[in-house]
Amino acid sequence: MVPDSNLFDLSGKVAVVTGAGANGGIGHAIAVGFARYGADVIAADIDEAGAKTTAEEIQALGRRTLAVYCDISKPEDVENLFVKVDESFGRIDILVNVPFAFPSRVRPHELSLEAWHKTLEVNLTGYFLCSQQALRRMLKQGTGGSILNIGSIAGVSALGRGAFPYSVSKAGINQMTKELAVEYAGQGIRVNAVLPAQVLTPGFRKQLLEDPRFGEKLRQLFLKGIPINRLLEPEDFVGAAVFLCSEAAAAVTGVLLPVDGGNLALNAGGSHTWPTE
Ligand SMILES: NC(=O)c1ccc[n+]([C@@H]2O[C@H](COP(=O)([O-])OP(=O)(O)OC[C@H]3O[C@@H](n4cnc5c(N)ncnc54)[C@H](O)[C@@H]3O)[C@@H](O)[C@H]2O)c1
Repeated sequence: MVPDSNLFDLSGKVAVVTGAGANGGIGHAIAVGFARYGADVIAADIDEAGAKTTAEEIQALGRRTLAVYCDISKPEDVENLFVKVDESFGRIDILVNVPFAFPSRVRPHELSLEAWHKTLEVNLTGYFLCSQQALRRMLKQGTGGSILNIGSIAGVSALGRGAFPYSVSKAGINQMTKELAVEYAGQGIRVNAVLPAQVLTPGFRKQLLEDPRFGEKLRQLFLKGIPINRLLEPEDFVGAAVFLCSEAAAAVTGVLLPVDGGNLALNAGGSHTWPTE
């Protein structure tokens, strides 16, 4: 039953956020954002120091927390993460799958099998392994739960420009979201995804916008596809994540929610600038 006040309150919930290292990315923003809304949060990442810093930020908000080294593509790391959650918290209510792999940009006919496998191992196998561990515990607890996957607009419409294995894996995340949502709806476990367009994370700035070969030209190209006329910020994902993982979304499952400033709503032949401008 949905309470009629404080629908977005996450107090008493235990959330695991992977890719939550303190690097200013989406996982970092969501982990700290969840703590602001009352959740206890486990920060997992291959960046161990970053996960520890995120945990310190969560602790400073008065929540219980833990930093765990975990490469989500490694079954033994994922098992270790969830055993640590069992030992320290004894339950899990929310899982957010965030990390991604994006190999060097080459066209599909030049892509190595190794780069293909690496991308799928993190973006698909990693999300599956973490979801499986979380689901087993949520089913045992019998109190429902929520899984949130971070997809991409690339999983819905093709990007070209060497994004092939990344895009294919993101489309797989969409279907994983829907299949798991349907499989576990009867047990009160909801599974949703958010689909970002271009987000101004430190990594994105460094790799693309600060590269003199792309820079401002690329920013302008991206902006043409974003009707709100700004690139997204990691903080833009906190509201969507809190909503989807809270009682406010009690009847929402299997949803792929674009948090993209209108990108997917925009037809490629259309434009949000008038021909007279
Ligand atoms: N930034 C964008 O423009 C953008 C656009 C569309 C979708 N996304 C999606 O949003 C999500 C977050 O992206 P971001 O830009 O915030 O990333 P980011 O690089 O800022 O953060 C990702 C975090 O995941 C960690 N990580 C990487 N591989 C890991 C692994 N195997 N196991 C555990 N942790 C690992 C990294 O150390 C890092 O802390 C990704 O799924 C990405 O595909 C991002």
